[in-house]
Amino acid sequence: MNTKVNLAGVELKNPVMTASGTFGSGAEYGEMLDLNRLGAVVTKGVANIPWPGNPTPRIAETYGGMINAIGLQNPGYDVFAKRDIPYLTQFDTKIIVNVCGKTTEDYIDVVEKLSDQPVDMLEINISCPNVKEGGIAFGQDPKAVEAITREVKKYAKQPVIMKLSPNVTDITVMAKAAEAGGADVLSLINTLTGMKIDIHKRAFAVANKTGGLSGPAIKPVAVRMVYQVANAVKLPIIGMGGIMTADDAVEFILAGATAVSVGTANFHNPYATVEIVEGIEAYMKKYHVDDINELVGAVK
Ligand SMILES: Cc1cc2nc3c(=O)[nH]c(=O)nc-3n(C[C@H](O)[C@H](O)[C@H](O)COP(=O)(O)O)c2cc1C
Repeated sequence: MNTKVNLAGVELKNPVMTASGTFGSGAEYGEMLDLNRLGAVVTKGVANIPWPGNPTPRIAETYGGMINAIGLQNPGYDVFAKRDIPYLTQFDTKIIVNVCGKTTEDYIDVVEKLSDQPVDMLEINISCPNVKEGGIAFGQDPKAVEAITREVKKYAKQPVIMKLSPNVTDITVMAKAAEAGGADVLSLINTLTGMKIDIHKRAFAVANKTGGLSGPAIKPVAVRMVYQVANAVKLPIIGMGGIMTADDAVEFILAGATAVSVGTANFHNPYATVEIVEGIEAYMKKYHVDDINELVGAVK
């Protein structure tokens, strides 16, 4: 039985990876589960300098999910490189670093610094506010998506995954823009912008007013978007959005994802990733699937 998948020349032992921002840089979870079992660990977003994040409260539960407005708090590249990369290199899993920035120069700074690091792939989070373009996220404007992809590709030594925002009218336009800019892989979806009001306090549940909705509530939207993008571009896709079980993961693969990321599920069940690896294997045995790649996009 083959569970190996290939993303732009990088071979993963299985298609299961962590979703950025929900797994730290692996250390907290590494105490509980065997990171060697995962196809890849995707780190939380790292910027060129430390970001303090948003005021608290930053998270709120919702039906079938949660809203977060962490604001991409991170210790900055220097701490990350010294503390987190050496931790992850102990394991037989691929390392994917999620990169955030407020300007094109910020992204390039991190991408250049990562060029001589033992990192397998870069995932570029374009749901960050583009300060030079009035704060609208890079990922909400196809011209900006193409331009940032092209710039990052100029400096990147590792294959580049562009992570798409679902907060757009037509995600295939953004997918095609990333492909035109030279992206190697696409990942989707990031969180959907949401809002929750505490009726007793008559106040917003998160201080930022809006936040990103994640978890099983968004899964049908994510599956639909993966399917649309898989039919619009030739690039391999990493699917995510509400994956809680192996069945959910298989659904994304059938829709067209070559690999999957598990996010919010980690907060609910820290063993979710490894259980999903085992559950995919059980599904393959049950239905006599010899090679997981047979399932990718199998539902037309
Ligand atoms: C608390 C939290 C922090 C996140 N931080 C990041 C981040 O730093 N970079 C990024 O690209 N996505 C980030 N995300 C988005 C997730 O990686 C993922 O795209 C999204 O949550 C959908 O997957 P899920 O429903 O399985 O959580 C974050 C999500 C959550 C819930």
